[in-house]
Parts: sequence; structure tokens; C-alpha cells
Amino acid sequence: MAWTRAVAYAVLSSQFWLPTKADYIWPNAQIDELEREVFEQENPFDGPGSTVSFVDGCSGPAERALGIGRSFGAEWIRNAYHDMATADVSAGTGGLDASIVFEMDRSENVGDAFRETLGIFQGSHNTRASMADLFAIGAVMAVGACSNGKVIVPFRGGRVDAAGPGPSGVPEPQQDLPTHTLSFAKQGFDTSEMIALVACGHSVGGVHGVDFPEIVPNPVPTNGATNDNTVTFDTTTDNFDNLVAKEFVANVSQNPLAFGQNETTRSDFRIFNADGGDMISQMASSNDFFLNTCTTMFERMINTVPRDVKLTDVIKPLKIKPRKLSVTVNDDQSLSVSGFIRIVDDLIGANGTQVLIHLASRSGEALPVATGTTSQGLTAGCGYPNCGPSYTYFRFSSTIPADQGVSSFTVEIIDGSTGKATIYNNGGGGFPVSDAILPMFSFSSQSSITINGSDQLQLNMTAAVLNAEMYANVSLIVPQPSNKSAPISPWIQEIVHMEPLSKISGTNFTLYRGIWQSSGPLTAVSSHPFDLVAQGATKTVSSLFNSWDDVEFI
Ligand SMILES: *[C@@H]1O[C@H](CO)[C@@H](O)[C@H](O)[C@H]1NC(C)=O
Ligand SMILES: *[C@@H]1O[C@H](CO)[C@@H](O)[C@H](O)[C@H]1NC(C)=O
Ligand SMILES: *[C@@H]1O[C@H](CO)[C@@H](O)[C@H](O)[C@H]1NC(C)=O
Ligand SMILES: *[C@@H]1O[C@H](CO)[C@@H](O)[C@H](O)[C@H]1NC(C)=O
Ligand SMILES: *[C@@H]1O[C@H](CO)[C@@H](O)[C@H](O)[C@H]1NC(C)=O
Ligand SMILES: *[C@@H]1O[C@H](CO)[C@@H](O)[C@H](O)[C@H]1NC(C)=O
Ligand SMILES: *[C@@H]1O[C@H](CO)[C@@H](O)[C@H](O)[C@H]1NC(C)=O
Ligand SMILES: *[C@@H]1O[C@H](CO)[C@@H](O)[C@H](O)[C@H]1NC(C)=O
Repeated sequence: MAWTRAVAYAVLSSQFWLPTKADYIWPNAQIDELEREVFEQENPFDGPGSTVSFVDGCSGPAERALGIGRSFGAEWIRNAYHDMATADVSAGTGGLDASIVFEMDRSENVGDAFRETLGIFQGSHNTRASMADLFAIGAVMAVGACSNGKVIVPFRGGRVDAAGPGPSGVPEPQQDLPTHTLSFAKQGFDTSEMIALVACGHSVGGVHGVDFPEIVPNPVPTNGATNDNTVTFDTTTDNFDNLVAKEFVANVSQNPLAFGQNETTRSDFRIFNADGGDMISQMASSNDFFLNTCTTMFERMINTVPRDVKLTDVIKPLKIKPRKLSVTVNDDQSLSVSGFIRIVDDLIGANGTQVLIHLASRSGEALPVATGTTSQGLTAGCGYPNCGPSYTYFRFSSTIPADQGVSSFTVEIIDGSTGKATIYNNGGGGFPVSDAILPMFSFSSQSSITINGSDQLQLNMTAAVLNAEMYANVSLIVPQPSNKSAPISPWIQEIVHMEPLSKISGTNFTLYRGIWQSSGPLTAVSSHPFDLVAQGATKTVSSLFNSWDDVEFI
């Protein structure tokens, strides 16, 4: 069937239209961490070398410096496609599930792209961000950066990591058109969609001679240097645009999978002509059509998941989000409550805008108001245009009587030009901040120790528990991979029983201490965020997902 551009676009995009949802309520263990990955790409807290910086300028500064035609942007797209490509949508199996990490030695997955992508995302992997979600975020970031913000793929979370390899079946260049048509159909893409997805995927990157010597020449460099001998798919490889389609239609012989020396591996030529050249011509004639189509195709690609996986709604950035909240018991019967409030810049545009934090005591009564202050560098945003809003962080700190305690707060913003005050209350209930069990960072430390001749981490954690007599036990819980030799594996919770030390005088807080030690090989996730949990017959309280960044290294 010959599609007009309008019909094709309407059909491709209609499946994914959903009404916008209101802001979610904070905290949300399923969304908070993913929202941070997607929308707080560059921020002052997460250390240097943000994930998105790897795809700065699409290929990324480190890959560009090599000058051998490697591109992190292209790799992250290829990684997501190869991971998804073994899906069987009618059986409801496979899709984006990170099974690619177990499938790298297959000939259909030749090249360094998969190992490099895993290496970059490994440090971000945790119980709240599956590797499959991170691979999807990688694809979203790559096309966002490579298109300079013209392709913004909506992101849903909730992908579940595979525990081992899946079936093979990633399309390969030497296969014939009926084989490709069948394998794309198995993934859920018809002929037009196959053409579109391949053209979109081949807008950046190229074929590496080191991996595919039968497709492009792979001369050994005479000077002893390494060279990937890359031939790119079009003549502007770092630009995500329709040039790959335009050049194909114009018979520019750049693309080795369309016009390469080896006819057997001209898979793009066969695929682009599979509908008589209709879709690729439409993509060639309009860059807007190309970009819109690619947005839809990549959204479908990353949302292809096993049937039993339920994705979240599209994750939208919160306007107001607490960050690094901390409550500490002082030795003068007071509590220090501090943290940062991330505020979308739209709400604080006017000069002289004030941010006030209205804390409520444990019983819900108003405590003295804290003022939010900001300073240079306390800002966050995305690594490429249109991904999301920019933010400013406002720091606050308050000292309150320990017997009154704290339960929640609201944020008031008073506009500097109109004087209008608006209260943000997190959907009605305020932003919760509990003082039931508290990490006492100033009494805690992390260190490197040697156990039986191997280097290990030690977390020496002190917690303060309010009304400790209500609980049967207090635990320090550090999730760890169940198989530290595997690239990914299901998480297990390593539970350390915390021992009571003493009551903090003049308060109802009791200090507890627990020491966790790593075992086996150290991995990128050895210092996984940890939980403190006090459990009793009638009540359980917790302080979840605490960062090691707040614990002094000694
Ligand atoms: C062309 O590609 C096919 C499939 O990879 C391979 O078997 C063949 O040897 C290649 N031909 C040449 C001349 O490299
Ligand atoms: C490209 O090559 C094909 C096949 O030789 C030919 O039919 C077509 O007219 C050419 N297109 C252009 C723009 O030269
Ligand atoms: C805020 O004040 C500065 C310095 O007076 C001025 O340059 C800037 O334009 C003002 N911004 C707004 C949004 O009014
Ligand atoms: C400790 O708890 C008891 C019982 O709830 C209460 O009566 C007392 O005021 C509390 N003391 C402090 C210092 O909070
Ligand atoms: C150290 O090795 C000994 C002997 O293999 C073993 O009994 C002991 O449990 C090990 N200690 C730790 C902390 O792993
Ligand atoms: C844990 O930290 C406390 C407080 O700094 C210290 O007294 C204790 O010796 C530490 N324990 C270990 C095993 O390092
Ligand atoms: C752990 O992972 C390694 C590497 O993937 C694998 O060889 C080994 O069988 C796994 N061990 C267990 C107990 O599953
Ligand atoms: C802690 O106590 C609760 C309630 O008695 C019990 O159900 C739970 O198994 C205990 N947990 C640990 C880790 O000891």
C-alpha cells in the first residue's frame, strides 16, 4: 500500500497518543530515580562526567578524539535495537530487557558497542533503575543529542532485566529481504515501519571494517595505530537527520549497506526498496516527516517489552522536587532539617522571587518558616535542547526542637515582580519528611579494607531511631547483585542487624550501629544506595535509598 505522508504519520503516531497526566506524588520509588536520570541530566550533585556528556555532539568527545569513526550516540541506539530485536510480539516474549548483556559473543552482535554501552550505564544500575530502563534512556539521550533536540522520545519506566540470554535472531546484513521482513514482523514492525526504523537507526554511525571486513575494506594500519576503518551511512554522521534517506534516493554511494562493494550485504538497499521506494522517498523529501517518524519508531522500539512487563505512564519532570533531604539529631535536643528544593525555572523567573519552606511538626503543627537560598552553580538541566526544563536548587536548613520533630513541608514561591504567593503541596499532603529513623552521617563512615587479602568496602553506619522500644529490630540493608561475576543479576538484600548504643540524652532517639562489608569481587554497584529499616510487630519505619556520597570516606 502506498501511504501518503499524512496517513503514514497519523497511523504511526496514533498508537502512542495518551492524555497528559498530572504531576506524580513525591516520593515514588518507581519513578524518582528514572525522572532524575532523564531530566536532571547535568546537576551539581552527581559528580563529574554526567551520562549525557558521553553523547555530547552525538558521537561524544572521547570517541571523536579517537578519530576512527566511533560514536557513543550510534552505539546506544544500536545497543537498544539489538537488545529489542529478538522480541516475539505475538508470543509476548523478549524486547528491551537487557538480555543483550548475555549475548555479546554472538556473531549477530559483533563489535564493541554493547560492551561499551554496558560499561557506561553499569554505575547507574540499581534497584530503582533496571539496566533495560537505562538502555532505553540511553537511546532517548542518544537520539536527543544527535538530533540536537529535534527527536524527543517520551520515556516510560518499568522494564525488567532478563536473568540470562534470550533467543538469537537480530537481523544481519547478509540476510535476504524475506528473512528481514519476517524478523521485523516478529518484532512488531510491518514493511513500512521496517524501512523507517532502519533509516532512522542509520542516520548516525556507520559500518566498522574491523567488525565487518566483508562489507567495508579493513586495511591494517601501517603505522601500528588502531583504526576501526569506519564507513558512515551518510556524509554527516553526527547529525540525526534525513540525509541517509536523501542520499539513498539520490544514489550517493556513501552507505556501505546500500551501495557497498559486496552485493550480498546491501541490506539497506533491499529494505529501502521493499515497498517500491515509497517510504524512503517520503523520508528523503521531508526532514520533519523523517524526524516525526523516527520519534514514533524509537518510542515503539524502546516500549517493546515482554507481555508481563507493565510500563509506567510517560514520565514527566516534576516542577518541585526535594533533593538530598536530611534530618539529624543534635546533642542539644534539637533536630537539623536541611536539603535542597529543585524548582523549575519557569516558576522563579522574576528577580527577587522568594522561596519559603513551611515545615510541619510530627503532630502537624507549623514550625518556623525556612528560607530557600541559591547560589551560582546550583542549577540543573539537560545536555541537549527540548529534553525538559532547566532548574534551580534552593538550599534550606532549619533547627527544630527534637520533641516536636518534623513530618512534612510545603514550598511557597512568592513572585518577585507580582508579589503573588503560590503554595506547592505535592498533591495536597505536603512533601513528607520523616524523623522516625535517621541516618546519622556525622557518626558514620565508609572505608576500604582488606579481608583475606582482597579489597573490600566497609560501611560503618549509625542511625537514630525515635521511640526505639516500638521496634523488634533495626537493619542496615545494602542491595547487592546475586552474581557478582555476571554483567547483571537479580538483586539480593544484604541485611546487617544494627545494635543499640545509647539514648541521645533529653530526646526519645536511640543510636544504633551496624557495619556492612562487601564480599567477592568489587563491582560498579558495590556501593549501592542503602536502606535503614526498623521493624516491629505493629509498625515499620524506614529511610530508603540513602547515598554513599553523604558518608565520609576515611
Ligand atoms: C560478501 O559478504 C558475504 C556475507 O557476509 C560473504 O560470505 C562474502 O565472502 C563477501 N564477499 C566478499 C567478496 O567479501
Ligand atoms: C538512481 O539509480 C536508479 C537505478 O539505476 C535510477 O533508476 C534512478 O533514476 C537514480 N536516481 C537518481 C536520482 O539519479
Ligand atoms: C534581574 O536583574 C538583573 C540585574 O539588575 C537584570 O540584568 C535582569 O534582566 C533581571 N531579570 C529579570 C527577569 O527581570
Ligand atoms: C518521649 O516520649 C514520651 C512518651 O511519648 C513523651 O511523654 C516525652 O515527652 C518524650 N520526650 C521527648 C524529649 O521528646
Ligand atoms: C577468611 O578466610 C578463612 C579461611 O578460608 C575463612 O575461614 C574466613 O571465614 C574468611 N574470613 C572472611 C571475613 O571472609
Ligand atoms: C565505626 O565508627 C565508629 C564511630 O566513628 C567507631 O567508633 C568504630 O570504631 C567504627 N567501627 C569500625 C569497625 O570501624
Ligand atoms: C554467575 O555469572 C557467571 C558469568 O555470567 C556465570 O558463568 C555463572 O554461572 C553465574 N553463577 C551462577 C551461580 O549463576
Ligand atoms: C524484625 O522483627 C520483625 C517483627 O518482629 C520480624 O517480622 C522480622 O523478621 C525481623 N527482621 C529481622 C531482619 O530480624
